[in-house]
Amino acid sequence: MTLKNTPQRWGPVSQALHWLVVVLILFQGGSGLRMIAMPNSIAKIELYALHKSLGLTVLALALIRLGWRLAAGAPRPIPGTPGWQHAAAACAHWLLYGLIFLVPLSGWLFNSVAGFPLQWFGLFNVPPLTSPDTTLRDLARNAHEWLFWLLVLTALLHAGAAIWHHLFQRDATLARMLPRGWLRTASDAPRSEDPHA
Ligand code: HEM
Ligand code: HEM
Repeated sequence: MTLKNTPQRWGPVSQALHWLVVVLILFQGGSGLRMIAMPNSIAKIELYALHKSLGLTVLALALIRLGWRLAAGAPRPIPGTPGWQHAAAACAHWLLYGLIFLVPLSGWLFNSVAGFPLQWFGLFNVPPLTSPDTTLRDLARNAHEWLFWLLVLTALLHAGAAIWHHLFQRDATLARMLPRGWLRTASDAPRSEDPHA
């Protein structure tokens, strides 16, 4: 078994990085929206700290993921996919890559210009990106919020397209981003001349 992507499938490293980042972003969106609405308390401070530490983890995973993608390549488009669909998917993928960098970076920038401390899971201090700046504060906070909503919109279109391919095109688009055997597609269905059918 190869860890790399093959012409037919995403390999286990790309799959693990993809789904781990999806889960972390779901948690980050939920925690971000929840923590800003909480009354001041220890729980609020703890949730902010967790949000920032996991957000920095997403940034590190985005770097690893981009490096792996450039080293391990991508599977070929599924035969029969119209050129426009392939181009739209490629644009969405690169936009998503950009956003998994920009969303945490804008959070880190906001934290820096607001002059808040920053640690990674209490283990070490993370330096600010720039010195405190009241004029940049609102800009950085709005950028963090709006880039997040752009990520949500793009990810919804992207996930919708993957599910549409699976249900209606009945091709392997979704199955090849999951471990082998997790999803059946039309091409896995036993043929009538198959002795095991
Ligand atoms: C994938 C990573 C991240 C996601 C998806 C995310 C998402 C969010 C969301 C949805 C909010 C609420 C925004 C609002 O409605 O005003 C928020 C707030 C916030 N985020 Fe993040 N965030 C991420 C990473 C980070 C990082 C790395 C940091 C800092 C190092 C950070 C710091 C903050 C802070 C300080 C707030 C509160 C803003 C305020 O008080 O108005 N975030 N985040
Ligand atoms: C935060 C949410 C998401 C982000 C940031 C994201 C990002 C990406 C990126 C960058 C790729 C390109 C492959 C790579 O280089 O790793 C990709 C591929 C893929 N994603 Fe997502 N994704 C998200 C959510 C989802 C969800 C919810 C689904 C399914 C319901 C999904 C299904 C797929 C599939 C099937 C592929 C492979 C497409 C192909 O082979 O052409 N993604 N995703």
